[in-house]
Amino acid sequence: MTRTGTLVYDPAETAGSLHLRAARVLNGNWTGTSTVPSRGLYPHQWSWDSAFISIGLRHLSPLRAQTELETLLGAQWGDGRIPHIVFNPSVPLDAYFPSPDFWRSSTAGAAAGAPRTVQTSGIVQPPVHALAAWLVHQADPGLSRARGFLSRVYPRLAAWHRYLLHRRDLGGGGLASVVHPWEQGMDNSPCWDAPLSRITPAPARSFRRADLDHGAAEDRPTDLDYGRYVRLATDYRDGGYDDGGGEFAVEDPSFNALLIASEYALAHIAQELGAAGTARHARAERLTAALVERLWDPAEGMFFCRDVYARGAGQGAQRDGCAGELIPERSVSGLIPLLLPALPRDIVATLVRTASGSHFGLGDATQLVPSYDLTGDAFDPHRYWRGPAWFNTNWLLERGLRLHGEQTRADGLRAALLDTAGESGFAEYVDPYTREACGALGFSWTAALTLDLLHSPTGADQFASHPGHETFDRAHSASTYGNARAYAFETGAKGGDRG
Ligand code: SER
Repeated sequence: MTRTGTLVYDPAETAGSLHLRAARVLNGNWTGTSTVPSRGLYPHQWSWDSAFISIGLRHLSPLRAQTELETLLGAQWGDGRIPHIVFNPSVPLDAYFPSPDFWRSSTAGAAAGAPRTVQTSGIVQPPVHALAAWLVHQADPGLSRARGFLSRVYPRLAAWHRYLLHRRDLGGGGLASVVHPWEQGMDNSPCWDAPLSRITPAPARSFRRADLDHGAAEDRPTDLDYGRYVRLATDYRDGGYDDGGGEFAVEDPSFNALLIASEYALAHIAQELGAAGTARHARAERLTAALVERLWDPAEGMFFCRDVYARGAGQGAQRDGCAGELIPERSVSGLIPLLLPALPRDIVATLVRTASGSHFGLGDATQLVPSYDLTGDAFDPHRYWRGPAWFNTNWLLERGLRLHGEQTRADGLRAALLDTAGESGFAEYVDPYTREACGALGFSWTAALTLDLLHSPTGADQFASHPGHETFDRAHSASTYGNARAYAFETGAKGGDRG
């Protein structure tokens, strides 16, 4: 695997050349209808990757960004779920595991309304999509209106949120649960160790991992983790992808914070389409209150995951009045609610302190927030989500810091993200101390979020989360898109779709 050391990096790289290199990554990973996360390790379309990718792609080609989301939404199931992978039929079956013949979506998922012609996985990923659709629309509202982009995606996004809020409220407290670690996106986070320990792993000989053909074994989840992932996915499939019958259900702070941020975005989209966004806005605020009630740990100063089916659930219920138990593992997921506008001020201040303290070290021991507690027993600076710093989580925290007026910290994080993205060859993730590249290089969301940071004004919040913050939207659009044509020209991206 190519490492940073073999790449030529100019530390004085200008924003223009970083932009050009990021655009090349996205152009190289474009398939014609969507973008692969990376050519080797992830050769299909991934759900939350595509959402983050479209947020950057909108700066190169708003048409491609819209297409990215439309392709994904075209594979939505009848029950509203957006599958975590949409398979490319021209990629050989053994290029990625678990492949379409494992998931058998069109047959095993028939009762849940899986599409007949396209093959997908049967689990989901974090709901970044409505947020992405709203940001993509803002990149070129004229093109978006001419193509009816929002009016076509809105019903699908609304059905997606309905699925999560109704079928996935397995804890009964209003939040969505994930039923597999791959759904939350941070596959081998130590947060899953306790709930996964109750799952009997599938025998190692019953499947063949393809990820180790492309990634270093020490950067990836272990075989034991994989055995448990396979068991959970097999059982879910064999139950017809019906929700509620499994052994694993976790309410995760980041997954639910993204759902809430996307609910605010749906309120904006509804308003843009001439409907009232107030009910969605109110729901986003109610969900924020539920997130605090169920997942905030005041003593630890951060949000924790809730293990809905914890064996000691009785004690947990007695302690805090909620089903299940909090999982006392400090993951970056527990900081991501910082991106929510209605978070109480004292919680915002505490989260900022926790991010900058000894467990995450932001601006002190580290320049990028690690995926897991630097002082935790399970910390490993290279192994996927057990310590390395990731670009999407840090981009979300940068946005959250800015939203809450922490401009200096946000500026520092932005600079570190841009430096590290360029230095690492747009790595999938990096060692949080040395910023050495780990996983895949030329990773799409790293390139996409680099582009977004290069285009985003440092003084404004692009989430513009409350309907009524149109001035923010206007400020962002004006300062961001004035330069977009020049960039599209410079990168050789087809500018024709800009009109
Ligand atoms: N992230 C998982 C993988 O590595 C599943 O989406 O394949």
